[in-house]
Amino acid sequence: MIDPASMRRCVTLVDDEPFALDILVRSAESFHFDCQTARSGEEALVLLEKQPTPIVVTDLNMPGMGGVALVQEIKKRWPQLAVIVVTAGADDEALLQCMSAGVQHYFLKPVHIDEFHHALQATWYHQLIRRQTQQQRKRLETIVHRQTHRLRHTFFSAITSLVRTLEARDAYTSGHSLRVRKFAVRLAKYIGLDEHNMKRLSLAAKLHDIGKVGLAEGILNKPAKLSADEFDRVKEHPVIGERILRPIVRNRVVLAAIRGHHERFDGAGYPDGLRGEEIPFLARIITIADCYDAMTSSRAYRGAMSPDAALGILHAGHGTQFDPHLVPPFLRMMREAKTRAKVR
Ligand SMILES: [Fe+2]
Ligand SMILES: [Fe+2]
Repeated sequence: MIDPASMRRCVTLVDDEPFALDILVRSAESFHFDCQTARSGEEALVLLEKQPTPIVVTDLNMPGMGGVALVQEIKKRWPQLAVIVVTAGADDEALLQCMSAGVQHYFLKPVHIDEFHHALQATWYHQLIRRQTQQQRKRLETIVHRQTHRLRHTFFSAITSLVRTLEARDAYTSGHSLRVRKFAVRLAKYIGLDEHNMKRLSLAAKLHDIGKVGLAEGILNKPAKLSADEFDRVKEHPVIGERILRPIVRNRVVLAAIRGHHERFDGAGYPDGLRGEEIPFLARIITIADCYDAMTSSRAYRGAMSPDAALGILHAGHGTQFDPHLVPPFLRMMREAKTRAKVR
């Protein structure tokens, strides 16, 4: 690649005739261009590979790789290079091929110095402007990218602290989302989920209950069974969560995981009553982590269940409430962790 910051005023000149090549070199040098020369298309490609120049001037009729093939190869490898063609005779077909490959100018030999000067100068300015536009576009893209990143970061920080605030309203659910994320990510690692989906899962698990932000404190902390109406309100939280996050979390997989974390494998869950593999895979992982944490944490209306009892309930619900393929690895993972903890 040519370094855009240091676009040297240089040109590669290609001609198999030494005399013609010499004229091109002297002309270009008199216009203050540094020159590198090649006597064939093949040699020119080797030179350009080592040291690309913004402009290439080539003869059309050369033994071996002809000018047309050289132009096509240059445009294929370095589309940003400008090519000027010089030819002894008017070969319309060859010129047409060069023009359609993107040649900037062509001349008939003998080369008129003024004409050559004008073409080199015009091509040089064209290249400069193109390079400047490219740099400007890159700079703008970087700025937009950085700002977008900052904005997303600010939004996620705000959302994360909102989740914390939300959970802090209720001593019983404090830290719930972070624990759900921990269990979900552990299970995902255990079953070998790829890194890409792991990131999506981590985000979805952390934000899965954000939709509860609109629930009245009385419902969140109610030390008794919820009424049917109250339960209907609670059941809206996966949809509300998806709606809150949609403007900033463009990833549909993350949104679907949040929306689907209360679906049941047998189709009796909410909000969409999806069943089996219709339920997004990441949502099925979160469901297990979510229920395990809910059962093993105390609530205003009941004490915490023991880990063994909670695992027993997961086992009993595999295939009905939970994905039957995900419960066994979760149970194995938790038992292995318990064994390791005992050994220590
Ligand atoms: Fe939830
Ligand atoms: Fe939850």
